[in-house]
Amino acid sequence: MAQRPAVLVTGASSGIGLATATLLSEAGFDVLAGVRRPSGEDRKFREIPLDVTREESILRARDEIAAHLGGAGLAALVNNAGVAEIGPLEYQSVDRFRGVFEVNVFGALAVTQAFLPLLRQARGRIVNIGSIGGMITIPFGSALCASKHAIESLSDALRMELQPAGISVTCLQPASINSGSAEKLAGQLERVIDELPPHGRTEYEDRLRSFMKATLASETTGSPPQVVAAVVLDVLRSSRPPSRQLVGKHAHVLKFLARGLPDRWRDRLLSRIFFGK
Ligand SMILES: NC(=O)c1ccc[n+]([C@@H]2O[C@H](COP(=O)([O-])OP(=O)(O)OC[C@H]3O[C@@H](n4cnc5c(N)ncnc54)[C@H](OP(=O)(O)O)[C@@H]3O)[C@@H](O)[C@H]2O)c1
Repeated sequence: MAQRPAVLVTGASSGIGLATATLLSEAGFDVLAGVRRPSGEDRKFREIPLDVTREESILRARDEIAAHLGGAGLAALVNNAGVAEIGPLEYQSVDRFRGVFEVNVFGALAVTQAFLPLLRQARGRIVNIGSIGGMITIPFGSALCASKHAIESLSDALRMELQPAGISVTCLQPASINSGSAEKLAGQLERVIDELPPHGRTEYEDRLRSFMKATLASETTGSPPQVVAAVVLDVLRSSRPPSRQLVGKHAHVLKFLARGLPDRWRDRLLSRIFFGK
């Protein structure tokens, strides 16, 4: 019997990663789901311990997957693991800002490097889960947005560099996905406000609360994570994988905001959306 094409999905414990691992395994892929902590649940796919910020974890996962493939290559890598931090740049901890890049950018790069030999073997595909935040930046969300701008650039470079190897690179740009990640962000709000000095609180507290309310409203009424999973499946099946692809309820409107408006108009609109003024 022919071996099923194998795909590694990072950050598969929840949200978009879990939906993608589930859909791909239902579609016949041999899914290797990177998780920081195995769920202990009976999943349709194989969980592989993988913390994308730890080199030894990446190498152990690579060895485990290579042994599992028994000499075959990896058909696809989905770089999905991601985190976010909110806060006003004036006071945001540089370590927390760096932590976002450690997962979203350096983690994705390190995992890609580790798995490229296996991807080369299968002339595989890379799907990077970027974000609409890779083309538009929102106030108090710049750690995430800057990291997603970086992923756009990394995807472009990888696509050109790997073209001779026959490895395609696609950057997905999801927007407003109801994955539960906004609730995780909301959990940061009180800590972020508590850590502000008194004048920082005067300056930012009301706007931070208003920002969080608008973010929660937009994401909890957004598209389910399964819509992103479906686009990943399309990309893996496509004879001509796209270089980038918007997905999610507000993606096209946000793209217009990002690309179609002068900066001042966009600033005013974002201020109205997030702060009501
Ligand atoms: N939700 C949206 O509206 C939206 C929009 C655009 C882009 N995205 C992107 O979609 C991706 C998935 O996000 P999501 O919305 O599905 O949120 P999520 O449910 O919070 O998923 C994030 C995943 O990343 C994992 N992760 C965090 N740090 C990690 C690390 N050091 N090593 C390995 N895995 C790690 C988490 O694992 P743990 O359970 O161990 O923490 C979790 O599985 C992210 O890249 C995000 O930026 C989401």
